[in-house]
Amino acid sequence: HSPTRVSVIGAGNVGSTLAQRIAEKNLADVVLLDRVPGKPEGMALDLMQARAIEHHDRLIVGTSDYKDTANSDVVVVTAGVPRKQGMSREDLLRVNAEVVASVVPMAVEHSPDAIFIVVTNPLDVMTYLAWKVSGLPKSKVMGMAGVLDASRFQAFIAMELGISIADITAMVMGGHGDLMVPLPRYSTVSGVPITELMTPDAITRLVDRTRHGGAEIVKLMQTGSAYFAPASAAAEMVEAILLNRRRIIPVAAYLDGEYGLHDLFMGVPVQLGQEGIDMVVELNLSKAELNALHTSAKSVRENIDRLAAMNLA
Ligand code: APR
Repeated sequence: HSPTRVSVIGAGNVGSTLAQRIAEKNLADVVLLDRVPGKPEGMALDLMQARAIEHHDRLIVGTSDYKDTANSDVVVVTAGVPRKQGMSREDLLRVNAEVVASVVPMAVEHSPDAIFIVVTNPLDVMTYLAWKVSGLPKSKVMGMAGVLDASRFQAFIAMELGISIADITAMVMGGHGDLMVPLPRYSTVSGVPITELMTPDAITRLVDRTRHGGAEIVKLMQTGSAYFAPASAAAEMVEAILLNRRRIIPVAAYLDGEYGLHDLFMGVPVQLGQEGIDMVVELNLSKAELNALHTSAKSVRENIDRLAAMNLA
């Protein structure tokens, strides 16, 4: 059996940080691919030169050739452009849809057994498109957002209460956008729901900050968007798959009736292991929580319809 291999498509901020995490956690060899010649090769060499100090033997290869990604166990798609000044959401949708629609089939061709994780935004619709153009079963294509959104919620809870992050769990469902659905009832400190530990006003404030977690960072950074936590979140999914951990974590998954939703990808808790998504976990939601989920789904659906109108899905 050849060494475990993860290919990361797009050697930008998220992709390069993810490559570093995967290698330094000793999870797999990494192939870093970008369309800009030299960029992934340079980064790979830089990461190879850190190995003596970071103490691992993982190989990191940079390339622009999909042949080098052959036989990957996992492929993570981070290629795309961030939203720039004067660009509408629809412009971003079109540009990144063209990127995803072109890179995914080339990656699948060389790694037909790989599990695909999409990171490119707008997340839920890009994951849907990746699934469509891949021809893969729904269990093998998923999007990274829920782990990141939950991690942000966990960070804000820890900061608010002034306690260790270690004892905090959080659940965030829905699309990766302003309408995402953080679930305070299913977010706990050592098993105690935060609804018993904080005032409703404080919870509303943290939920709101979580919903706009990405935008808050874009506003601060001015040029570019978050990448440390997104890379950590993607690495956690890669680890769950490669080590067959059967983690119960939120990812953007294909819904086929679960939560009353059909034919779209959106954030829901799943069991994640070496076959990909083993199952979607159906939490018992209140009427208000379910309504919020359906509102979020409606906006994801509108974007999928836009793609279809552009003849892209
Ligand atoms: N093929 C290969 N690489 C590509 C392609 C393509 N068709 N198009 C773009 N890229 C590469 C770019 O050259 C760049 O190196 O994708 C990389 C994107 O990196 P950044 O611009 O640094 O963006 P990043 O912050 O990493 O975010 C990547 O993840 O979180 C999402 O919204 C974010 O959609 C964005 C993606």
